[in-house]
Amino acid sequence: MRKIIFFCALTLPLSWSKPSKTSFQLIQEINSRQTSWKAGLNSLKNIKSRLGFLGLHPDSDYKIATKHHKIDQTSIPETFDARDKWPECKDFIGNIRDQGACGSCWAFASTEVMSDRLCIVTNGETKFEFSPENLLTCCEICRYNCVGGYTAQAWNFLINEGIVSGGDYNSSEGCQPYSESAFKNGVVPKCVKTCQNNNYDVKYNDDKHYGDSFYTLETNVSQIQVEIMTNGPVMATFNVFEDFVYYQDGVFNQRNYVAFWSIFLFLGVYYHVSGEMIARHVVKVIGWGTENGVPYWLIANSWGTWWGKLEGFVKIRQETNECAIEQEMAAGEVHIGNKKSTTG
Ligand SMILES: *[C@@H]1O[C@H](CO)[C@@H](O)[C@H](O)[C@H]1NC(C)=O
Ligand SMILES: *[C@@H]1O[C@H](CO)[C@@H](O)[C@H](O)[C@H]1NC(C)=O
Repeated sequence: MRKIIFFCALTLPLSWSKPSKTSFQLIQEINSRQTSWKAGLNSLKNIKSRLGFLGLHPDSDYKIATKHHKIDQTSIPETFDARDKWPECKDFIGNIRDQGACGSCWAFASTEVMSDRLCIVTNGETKFEFSPENLLTCCEICRYNCVGGYTAQAWNFLINEGIVSGGDYNSSEGCQPYSESAFKNGVVPKCVKTCQNNNYDVKYNDDKHYGDSFYTLETNVSQIQVEIMTNGPVMATFNVFEDFVYYQDGVFNQRNYVAFWSIFLFLGVYYHVSGEMIARHVVKVIGWGTENGVPYWLIANSWGTWWGKLEGFVKIRQETNECAIEQEMAAGEVHIGNKKSTTG
């Protein structure tokens, strides 16, 4: 049985304060090795406050179903982008969120996948942005303060308790937008069971939406692809190494011209080159493709659009279980309407 237990990046170990290599040396090393991606200093704000203790909260008795698809290999395209498959939900699927100073990637990846999937399953009728704030603050067993959490618990919370809507920090969107306390200070505020936005006139309990199921996927590229093509984006956990922090884009100068015409054509496939493992992280996978012969997963990170040079997206090498990314992919079903599921 596999457990879905992880803590969020950026939780950096003590060695971070005395790295064997300076950032500059690491960046130089990566760039001199002619990899498929380019490193640089990202203006990652709050980096200090994202530091924290990395530990585990094992939950060994918990059983999670694994979904199995019948695979017709010929139906799987070379390139796939969920924004193109479901243009009516493009704004949700392509929305890069920002967890700020809190290690709440688990809450962001979970609610992003929930929002996308509710939109997809209702053919774009229900544009409901699930609130990471509500999940973070009210699901105490889901997390340990701002230093990480469990996605299986997050989906259980969706199934049993429901989650209200809520946009980003300062967005004034939804019932519970992301708080300043979590965003700026990395402190989880108290759970409140009322809406925290004067511009939003739905009552807290009426705003809740629920889930029907949660499942993991096999460590198998085709299985993951068919799940994404059929039901929408999925969550992926992976090991963050020091070099990931410096991910920027591709090694080709023409990228700037390409990016000018279309953000879908951006270059730069990440794989681990150098540096220590510093944390586990959860992100949202929205598609795949191949760049200069290197297959990759197309991923939406939750460190804001200013992380890297691809507007907050990253491509991670596919097929090689890079940084264990193919090992713990997971997703679930969101219940249509705002009533609790009777089967959940
Ligand atoms: C958020 O809004 C407050 C109040 O309007 C403002 O002072 C602050 O700069 C904003 N922060 C960000 C990151 O946009
Ligand atoms: C992935 O799963 C499919 C269908 O279950 C199977 O045919 C294929 O051999 C698997 N691939 C690998 C690499 O195990």
